[in-house]
Amino acid sequence: MNTSIRKIEHLKLCAEEDVEARKNTMFSLAGFGDIHLVHQALPEINKKDIDTSTRFFNRRFSAPIMIASMTGGHPDTFEINHRLALAAAELNVGIGVGSQRAAIEDPKQESSFKIVRDAAPDVFVQANIGAVQLTKYGVRMAQKVVDMIDADALSIHLNFLQEAIQPEGDTDATGCLTAIRKVCSELSIPVIVKETGAGISYETASALVDAGVSAIDVGGMGGTSWAGVEAYRAKDRGDVMSEHLGNVFWNWGIPTAASIIECRGRVPVIATGGVRNGIDVLKSLGLGANLCGIALPLLKPAMKSKNHVIEILVQVIEELKVAMFLCGCADIRSVKNIPVIVTGNTRQWLEGKDFDIK
Ligand SMILES: Cc1cc2nc3c(=O)[nH]c(=O)nc-3n(C[C@H](O)[C@H](O)[C@H](O)COP(=O)(O)O)c2cc1C
Repeated sequence: MNTSIRKIEHLKLCAEEDVEARKNTMFSLAGFGDIHLVHQALPEINKKDIDTSTRFFNRRFSAPIMIASMTGGHPDTFEINHRLALAAAELNVGIGVGSQRAAIEDPKQESSFKIVRDAAPDVFVQANIGAVQLTKYGVRMAQKVVDMIDADALSIHLNFLQEAIQPEGDTDATGCLTAIRKVCSELSIPVIVKETGAGISYETASALVDAGVSAIDVGGMGGTSWAGVEAYRAKDRGDVMSEHLGNVFWNWGIPTAASIIECRGRVPVIATGGVRNGIDVLKSLGLGANLCGIALPLLKPAMKSKNHVIEILVQVIEELKVAMFLCGCADIRSVKNIPVIVTGNTRQWLEGKDFDIK
């Protein structure tokens, strides 16, 4: 099956089925329920003056939010990317395109990616390619996907959980770090490595920082589950083994909240994976993230109109403002100093890995 058709299947399943990590508590599995912000009954700031703007790689964002990489590579994705990009431009938040592999394989698919830069000429745009493709096609391909959309950064995705469940998956993970190191040294723009729903550990983050990456997107467990998406695909085609694997590994990975702490402190961190409201955003920043990425909640809105996307993002930004107000944060810089209490499974996880919770 070619990449373009597989991407459309993924898109339909994400829009129509419940593909998020399966909750077995009242809280999301991303771990945000274990993270507590301390209410300040006397915040001593004027909510009207709260400034949510931030800088990331020297670009100003009106809020610490990125529309996470989702799509492109099939004619039906053109309008989706167009609407996402118009929303990003109107709100001045960042945006990533989905894997550009389909356009490398078939240049006719380029327009569904290029529309993002055309519709959002001034916002921070991330190109996207898989680490496995990088090992095969190298720096020239990396430069090509960047040039295709005049990107501000290249994000390289890691998705070995999904690959291991797809029968056609690419499961040769050898040589990825070497390929990432080479791209980091030869590309003139920042390289971000991102997971896609299974999180990044301290050990992997250390190897990536050593390889020269400029930022890490934790892509943690607790939001979209690619094992889940593959379980649905497998069921549809009667592939019993892949369906079984998808179900067993549905919630595999490092929860987003824990992954932020595993990765923070060395290079900027983007928190993606189950970020669903402005409180999750503030908790992520309080844990040490610099930006938050949101994917799945924007997919259905993007199938309708730009305004539907804007509605969701404006809501998240307003929630962030209320949370900042109640924590006494006038701006994003002051978020770094707020007390954050870590409890429950996330605390146990971090203690198990000898992190100093304080
Ligand atoms: C429909 C869809 C398609 C995606 N395609 C890509 C992709 O091509 N490349 C990539 O790096 N991540 C991709 N992702 C992963 C997201 O960027 C993100 O890391 C993940 O979905 C977790 O965020 P969420 O819980 O907010 O959805 C995709 C996500 C969705 C929902």
